[in-house]
Amino acid sequence: MTSRSLFLLPGDGIGPEAMAEVHKVIAVMNEKESAGFSTDEGLVGGCAYDAHGQAISDADMDKAMAADAVLFGAVGGPKWDAVPYEVRPEAGLLRLRKDMELFANLRPAICYPALANSSSLKQNIVEGLDILIVRELTGGVYFGEPKEIIDLGNGQKRGIDTQVYDTYEIERISAVAFELARTRRNEVCSMEKRNVMKSGVLWNEVVTATHKARFSDVKLSHMLADAGGMQLVRWPKQFDVIVTDNLFGDMLSDIAAMLTGSLGMLPSASLGAPDPKTGKRKALYEPVHGSAPDIAGQGIANPIAMIASFAMCLRYSFNMVAEADRLEAAIATVLDKGLRTGDIMSDGCQQITTAEMGDAIVAAYAS
Ligand code: NAD
Ligand code: IPM
Ligand code: MN
Repeated sequence: MTSRSLFLLPGDGIGPEAMAEVHKVIAVMNEKESAGFSTDEGLVGGCAYDAHGQAISDADMDKAMAADAVLFGAVGGPKWDAVPYEVRPEAGLLRLRKDMELFANLRPAICYPALANSSSLKQNIVEGLDILIVRELTGGVYFGEPKEIIDLGNGQKRGIDTQVYDTYEIERISAVAFELARTRRNEVCSMEKRNVMKSGVLWNEVVTATHKARFSDVKLSHMLADAGGMQLVRWPKQFDVIVTDNLFGDMLSDIAAMLTGSLGMLPSASLGAPDPKTGKRKALYEPVHGSAPDIAGQGIANPIAMIASFAMCLRYSFNMVAEADRLEAAIATVLDKGLRTGDIMSDGCQQITTAEMGDAIVAAYAS
């Protein structure tokens, strides 16, 4: 029988609540389709800090490295505001990304037909939206050195973060964007700030050269990232694939989330390079949202971003394309029926809990 190992890191806040709903999907796939998923679970974020003083233990890192795929919930929360910077909850996620070399973060923003009136933007602007943000995930200002606060000795301190990109990092992320564009509408828009940043100049240069050398069949455009943010809310359907750096990608994807109705809707896949021998690649699947401390523990979080992240896992880690399509269709069916968690609630719809949303999606998937 097929064996597919999943390492689950539910994390903090609404992370475990959303992950519980993915458990249900895994269970039904194992029971009804003999999918052969085996699961193991670890600690990441604040709960890991509470248990062993680190945002992720070495033992759990080893398990993440060894699994076929990692499913990640969310980390962080006010409880850990005062913990040392090096072991803050978010450090666990950053270590996973860096050590697993998950340089490509795919953040699709799709507006489900039933939610076209749930966005804070007008319906005609978002209906039919299907864009993909490809965010560089292991470089840039998130990881560049020096990264420190130094005491200047005159009562002043200096906080330093360093934005660094090397050619190979820009080349490999743009190649991912171009390859994905070929499977979609064949257009890539690269966003940087070459008008003020040297790394932006290099970014623009390398994306252009990669395009010319290997992907000249794809339509390429460039935009300054601030203008890109504006265009995302002005007329988002002008975009197909957006490729951008780590920090701009973080911000632009939260903006894109609101085009779909809620941050609770946006899934993501964080992928490494395929192994040259086996073709397999390390991967972690994580919703774009955080631990949502304001609603944690109430059973009202939207689990769709987490479930849709599992659909991406089926597609990218296990090549279970039909199952991924069916799971995404099940989400659409449930939304079409007017079932909503609070974040996407609108007139004439029925408000349900996190668990009820998971049950409804599983039922639609299994039917
Ligand atoms: P957040 O994404 O947790 O929440 C922002 C807002 O969106 C909140 O009002 C929240 O209730 C709402 N929201 C988010 N996900 C939702 C869902 N699934 N269903 C319904 N509503 C949802 O961002 P924040 O409040 O800025 O950050 C809270 C903590 O989460 C911080 O510690 C931050 O560092 C962390 N964070 C973690 C991740 C991650 O683990 N991947 C991502 C972003 C933020
Ligand atoms: C995200 C989050 C993370 C990021 C944090 C929690 C480290 O905001 O995945 O979007 O900034 O990348
Ligand atoms: Mn973010």
